[in-house]
This record gives sequence, C-alpha cells and structure tokens, in this order.
Amino acid sequence: MKNILPSPLQYKKNKLTFDGIALDKIAQKHATPFYLYSKKTLDFYYKSFYSNALKHGIPEPLVCYAVKANGNLEILKRLKTLGSGADVVSVGELKKALKAGITPDKIVFSGVAKSEAEIRYALKCGKTGIYSFNVESIEELELINQIAKQEKKKARVAFRLNPQVNAKTHKHISTGNKTHKFGLLKSDISEALSVKEFWTHTNLVGLSIHIGSQLTDMKATVAAIKELSNLALTIDHPLEFLDVGGGLGIDYTDEERTKLASIDYYMKIVSDALQQFYYSKVDNCPRIVFEPGRILVGKMGVLVSRVVRTKTSDNCHFTIIDAGMNDLIRPALYEAHHEVLPETKSSKMITTDIVGPICETSDCFGSKRKLPSMKTGDLLVIDNAGAYGHTMASRYNEREIASEVLL
Ligand code: LLP
Repeated sequence: MKNILPSPLQYKKNKLTFDGIALDKIAQKHATPFYLYSKKTLDFYYKSFYSNALKHGIPEPLVCYAVKANGNLEILKRLKTLGSGADVVSVGELKKALKAGITPDKIVFSGVAKSEAEIRYALKCGKTGIYSFNVESIEELELINQIAKQEKKKARVAFRLNPQVNAKTHKHISTGNKTHKFGLLKSDISEALSVKEFWTHTNLVGLSIHIGSQLTDMKATVAAIKELSNLALTIDHPLEFLDVGGGLGIDYTDEERTKLASIDYYMKIVSDALQQFYYSKVDNCPRIVFEPGRILVGKMGVLVSRVVRTKTSDNCHFTIIDAGMNDLIRPALYEAHHEVLPETKSSKMITTDIVGPICETSDCFGSKRKLPSMKTGDLLVIDNAGAYGHTMASRYNEREIASEVLL
C-alpha cells in the first residue's frame, strides 16, 4: 500500500475542492469557522498504518488510536469499525471511546495524573477492566493495587519506561527524557517489581514507551526500543505486549516532506529494532501495541474560515479571518506551520499576515505569506488541522467552539 495519499484539498479550474466537492458549496451549508474532515483520508491512513505493521512482520499489532489528537465521535466510530483500539488519558476520553463502541480490551490508559475515580471507572469497564493501565509512577501503582483490592479485581498494568532519550521535536512535546514528568526510570521499575505488596491485585502484562510527538527522525525511536527491550529482558515472567507509543510525524511543510519517515519506513525501523534487541533473544513473542494520533488524523482535516476584512498599516498588510487561536492553537503555542490556501487561486499575489480576531499578537496563522488579495467573505483554508485542532480549541474571548463536518 502506498503511504502518501493526495491531499483532500485540490484546485480544479482554480477553485478549491475537498474530496472532489467544491469548497464554496460545502461552506454555504456551514457557518465559518468549521473543521472539515475527510473519511477517505482517515481510512487510508489507518489501513496504511495497520497493513505496514503486518508487512514488516510486527506480531499481532494492536493500534490504540490516541484520542487526544481528535476526539470526534464519528471519527472514533469509524476507527473502531476499521479495527482500532484507543489510547486514553482521562475518563472523558475513556467514556468517548466506549461510546464509539471500542471495547475495554482494546483500551490503554496513559497519563501521569490518573485520579482515584478514573482508575476505579477504568477497572470496572467490561469484565476484566481495560487492556492496560500504563503506569507512570510507583505511587500510581500502589493506588491501582489498592483500588483493585477494594473492587475485588486484578488490574492489568504496564510500566511506562522513561528511556532517557532526546526525541528531536518541539521542546513542548518531547517526553522521553528524565527531566520530563513522564514514565519511570528502569531502576525504579526493577525495584517496584520486587515489592510484593504492589502486586496482590495487579498483573504486569506489558511495558510501554512514548518519547514525543511530531517525530521525523527515527534515531531516538530506535534508542528507546533498545531501552524497552533491555528492560523486558530483565523481567522473568512472560509479557503479553510491548507498547511502542505514538509520535510519527506528518509533513506540515515542504522541508518536512523531504525528511519525514514514511509509515513504511517507520514500521521497518520498529520491526528491525524489536528483532535485533528483543525477539532474537527470547522464545516468547509479545504482541506490539501502537498509540498513533497525528499520523492517522492530521492530514484528513482542515479549518475553513472566511475573511472578515483586510487592513494596511504602513507597509504591513493583514488578512483578518474569522478563525482564531482559540480554534487552532498550534501556531501560537508551538510556532507550528500550517499552509493557508485561498478558495480561488490567482497568479497575482500580495504579501500578508493572516491573523484572527483574538486580542493577542500570537493570534497569527502565518506571517509574510503570499496570497491573492482577498475581500470580506472570501474563504481561506488552513491545512493539516485534523490533529490537535478541535481537541485543543477553547472558548477564549467567549467565542463558540468551531463545528465539525465529516465528509
Ligand atoms: N501516546 C501518548 C502517551 C501521548 O502522550 C501521545 C501524545 C500520543 C500517544 C500520540 O502522539 P502522536 O502520534 O499524535 O504524536 N498538541 C501537540 C501534540 C501533543 C502530543 C501529546 N501526546 C501538537 O499539536 O503538536
């Protein structure tokens, strides 16, 4: 299966279309700003991810989609139909995944701050509770054991290892170093394994890592799988799974396009590393769990907005749109690049800053961009907004949360 699908956004006769439908037609039916998603693109990325895992010999892959990337119920239902499980970080995400029909035996629970109520809820899901609590501290393990005792259950747990690697990505979303709050050091895991009281109502069923998001370079991923394998080799009872986390990036820019690891390459790297550092040294064959978010949903979504007005201050030109940083915070928070496309293509371009209505200078989707000169009511589309767009939206400035449309 090819790993690249043409974007759902295409110009036809200089007019923007989305999955073959004229954008202005879609926008007539919905108030801007709104998120627009392509089911076709979602299907493509899920199938590509799963089939490449199989192609590279990953044993019994379980894809636990990271709900935080996009929690739209229709998207979750579609992923469930395609065979996906879920990686959740709150009881809210857990309830949403269950509502979409994802069964507890395909749900892993990550996060450093699982509360007593959240643990209890997850433990009481289905017959055996969720597939795994990915434990991030000794204190959390003690609490899970205590709650499981009260509930007369056995909790399935995995340790999230902090593999002490530096994933090359924005510093806000790098998570695999010991200065980060995530996971446990190998020495602490080894110590916890020998404390009998932690294991009266818990079963260690797996180990996990997640070293960061929007990863384009695979070096840290290999180093982390080596650490995960080394830890697994020291554990003297059979594990059911190793969870290699999420993190595979998408191309937001042309530069990223040239250096990005494809899904095919990523699966090859993961498979080779597991073979070299783990499977070649053991008889048993734990399955592999993945927690992809962005790679599955990033490219299927765009944010559609309209121009409110334009403004010139001396030699600065502003295209002011009705979408703001409250709708899509990535540019303001991570200085992330998103392409911005006009609905009507023109050969005559001006240089402009695309800004929103929010009262902050950070409310800017792009500086010094080349765009046709636009007028009030014209449509502008912000590309690659399917991941961490709507889920990170807020009501800042008392604005409505943008609606979502799935094609
Ligand atoms: N697993 C865990 C434990 C995670 O914390 C995350 C993301 C994922 C999986 C999924 O990672 P992905 O495959 O999507 O890279 N808001 C930021 C991204 C934050 C990622 C947080 N954790 C952004 O807009 O770039």
